[in-house]
Formats: sequence, structure tokens, C-alpha cells
Amino acid sequence: MRTIKKITCIGAGYVGGPTMSVVAQRCPEIEVTIVDSNTARIAAWNDSDLSNLPVYEPGLDEVVAEARGRNLFFSADVDKAIEEADMIFISVNTPTKTYGKGKGQAADLKFIELCARQIAAVATSDKIVVEKSTLPVRTAEALKSILHNTGNDVKFHILSNPEFLAEGTAVHDLQNPDRVLIGGEDDDAIQALVDIYSHWVPREKIITTNLWSSELSKLVANAFLAQRVSSINAISELCEVTGADVNEVSRAIGMDSRIGPKFLKASVGFGGSCFQKDILNLVYIARTYNLHAVADYWEQVILLNDHQKVRFAENIIKTLYNTVNGKKIAFLGWAFKKDTNDTRESAAIYVADHLLNEEAEVVVYDPKVSAEQIYKDLDYLGTRSPEDNRRLVTIATDPYEAMRDAHAIAVLTEWDEFMSYDWAKIKAGMKKPSFVFDGRKLLNRKQLEELGFVYYAIGE
Ligand code: UDX
Ligand code: ADP
Repeated sequence: MRTIKKITCIGAGYVGGPTMSVVAQRCPEIEVTIVDSNTARIAAWNDSDLSNLPVYEPGLDEVVAEARGRNLFFSADVDKAIEEADMIFISVNTPTKTYGKGKGQAADLKFIELCARQIAAVATSDKIVVEKSTLPVRTAEALKSILHNTGNDVKFHILSNPEFLAEGTAVHDLQNPDRVLIGGEDDDAIQALVDIYSHWVPREKIITTNLWSSELSKLVANAFLAQRVSSINAISELCEVTGADVNEVSRAIGMDSRIGPKFLKASVGFGGSCFQKDILNLVYIARTYNLHAVADYWEQVILLNDHQKVRFAENIIKTLYNTVNGKKIAFLGWAFKKDTNDTRESAAIYVADHLLNEEAEVVVYDPKVSAEQIYKDLDYLGTRSPEDNRRLVTIATDPYEAMRDAHAIAVLTEWDEFMSYDWAKIKAGMKKPSFVFDGRKLLNRKQLEELGFVYYAIGE
């Protein structure tokens, strides 16, 4: 039975950073090194001012403060960390391919493959290699093949250990997971990872399966969660035309213990790095095996999500007398959900893009997202020139400034602070009529209507 003394994690992003920080906190006798080829990111993880950590997650600063320098290290020396580790987690990004076969659907495994080749080239002792990134089913096979065919005759055991944390609650989710899933073939390697999680997770919550079940379960969990959001969002549109209230419907169906109350919140559409990517992956795999009915079924979850974002933007345009040209529209929120600075696939990006096509002037306020990131997200779409994005979009650091003289406010992220604003003051500074489009059903309709706002919320 091997004892793990040193762990390396390749990739210091939204998954690798928080996950390995918690492992280090809970396993003080194990040395954990998180490496990344992005030296600026590593420098930010090492910043003595904890408010500069590159990932914003409630509670993460305390975990890092406790473990960093004790048994948690952030480094850009990837080779050294690989060489020294008994166990290596791969936690690099796997974006959807933007070129070639599977473009727009399959996961781009370039970064994973580069990691595998680097591990194979550097390792001079046996290693357990753990897939942490979300990956298409059977990636472990590819990993194994690269490691075994290009390595220096050392033994590699591959484990799949998908991460189920949700951003914004990552630290809580890592400390109290519903379950930990470990897929693998070698009992000793599996046990080594079980022993690590057993430091804080009850044994009955640690499930072990074969590699493929583990890989597939991650995609399926995200597909099921996203499907619930698309299901309730489909019903939100029906509610709007029939006079039902989607919150009331969610509550009524969620109290059925077979359905359950979670992930039934209607919204402007789900975002984040996982849902869309994982479903597209599932669709791609199904099509690869000629399972077209299966592929079409899951693809509909994405199509409905796209529809929801467009529908929200179209409603703004229609309500503002069919033209938003030159009108100032204030966006509250840009992150894909509250309590994170992550903007990947955020609905805000697509809603903004739609309004910018109509030459609206968008002013964005988000408490945690930088101006640089917002412009990067818009430029990445390639819909218009970077100059036009900067001409039409302004970033505000003060919410009241963002909303002054606006024709309309659009709530895109459910940040708590939006609820406690001085709405009377905001109303006084806006153009009349003053519209609010609440994509999160966050604000208080009664309060806003009494102040004279024209208030529209998803699903009402
Ligand atoms: C998700 C999974 O929850 C997590 O287990 C997996 O590891 C990664 O993907 P994440 O994307 O971080 O996590 O956040 P999540 O809370 O799942 O929200 C995803 C999106 O769905 C957000 O845009 C959120 O606003 C939206 N959502 C969620 C809704 O619109 N309604 C809901 O009821 C729940
Ligand atoms: P996730 O949400 O999956 O954590 P991120 O994009 O936040 O994704 O983080 C992935 C990190 O992996 C990035 O910081 C990136 O620089 C890093 N990375 C990608 N490929 C490599 C590599 N071959 N070696 C080291 N770091 C890498």
C-alpha cells in the first residue's frame, strides 16, 4: 500500500485552485503544489494580499491563509513539481473545440494531451495520475496510451475523479461534498485517493467505479442539472402568456419529494464553464455512436437555453418601443452567477451582444468582474470590432453611476447587493418611463412598482 506524501496539481484555475487548497488544508501531512504555466496567475495565488487571489470564492482566502507556506505551494516550475509528486492531478481547461472535427461540440483535449506528454517526459518514478478536469468519456484511455508509450519506463495508474463543486459555493461544496467519485482500474491507486478524501469525507460518501462510469457520470450530472434549468425556463415562457407565476409553479412542483426543490429557479439562462460544454460533449459522443435520438434529446436543453437569452433581449427591445439605438441600458451583473468572478458562457454576454447589434449603449456594473474581462468576453464573440465594443459599452465601478440616465436596467446576475440599493434614488435619476428587466427574479416587484418603475421579470 503506498502512502502519498506529495501531490502536484497541474492547472491553478477555478477547479484546481480551490480543490487543492482544501486538500492541503485537510491533509496537513501531505505537501501539495499547484502549478500553472501562466506565471501571472501563480503570482496572484502567491500575493500576500489575499483579496488579489485570481479566483473569487467566499471563504477561499481563509483556506489559503491557513495552508499556504505550510503544506500548500503555488509554483510555475511544472517539471520540478511533476518529478517530485507521488500523485498528479490534471486540472487544466478543456474548452469546446473552435476548429476542425467536432468544432463547437467536442472538447478540445490539446491541453490535457500536452500535460500527459510533459508528465511522461519528466517522470522518473511511478505516479498516480488523476483526471480532475471534465473530460469526454474514454479520455483516460488516451491518457494511458500517451503515458505508457512515451514514458521513461515508469508505471502510471490513471484515476478519474471528477469535481462536482459549484462556483460561488466551492469551498463549502469541497468541505461537505454530497459524494466523491473515483473511477479506476488499480485497487491500490484507488485506495490511495480514497485515503486522501477520508481525511474529511465520510467513507460511505466515497464511491468507486470503473473509469468510464466515472467519466460519464460527470457529464450526466451536469446534463441533468442543466436540463432542470431549461425545463423550468421553458415553463417560464408559458407562465408569461398564461398569467401563472413560475416561482409559484417551482414551489408547487418542488415540494414533491420525487422532484425536489433545487435547480428550479427560472433565469435568463444558465451559464458557466460546465453545463453547455458537457452537454455538447454528450451530444457529440451520442452522434459519434449514431445515437441521433439521444443526441437530439440533450441538444434541446442547449437550444432552449439559447432561446431564453434571445427572448430576454428581444423583450427589452420590444418594450422600449422597438428601438434601443442610442439608449442607455444598465446591466447589473456580468458573472454567470453570484459570488464568483467567472464569466464563462454568462448569459450577460449574449444578451449584451444582441442589444449591441441594435446599437444600444450598454453600461455594465458587476462587483467582482473587471472591465478587461468584460471587453475580452465581447471581443471573443467576434461580432463587431474591439473599437465598436469600446464605443458602445462602458464599465462602471459605481452602480448608481451605471444606472443614472438609463432608459432601462437589466438584472443579469443575482448578486445580493442589488436587493439593498436605494431604488427611489435610482428611479429619480433615470429616464422616464423607467424600465427594469429582471432576468433573475431578484428584486421586489411591489416595491419597484410603487416607486413608479415598469417592472418585468422572467416567468411572471
Ligand atoms: C455546475 C455544477 O453544479 C457543478 O456540480 C459542476 O461541477 C460544474 O457545473 P456551476 O456551473 O459552477 O456548477 O454553477 P451552478 O450553480 O450549477 O449554476 C450553473 C448555471 O445555472 C448558472 O448560470 C446559474 O445561474 C444557473 N441556474 C442554476 C439557474 O438558472 N437556475 C437554477 O435553478 C440553478
Ligand atoms: P477550470 O475551470 O477547469 O479550472 P481554468 O481555465 O480556470 O479552468 O484553469 C485551467 C488552468 O490550467 C489555467 O490557469 C491554465 O493556464 C492552466 N494550464 C493549461 N494547460 C496547462 C499546462 N500544460 N501546464 C500548466 N498549466 C496549464
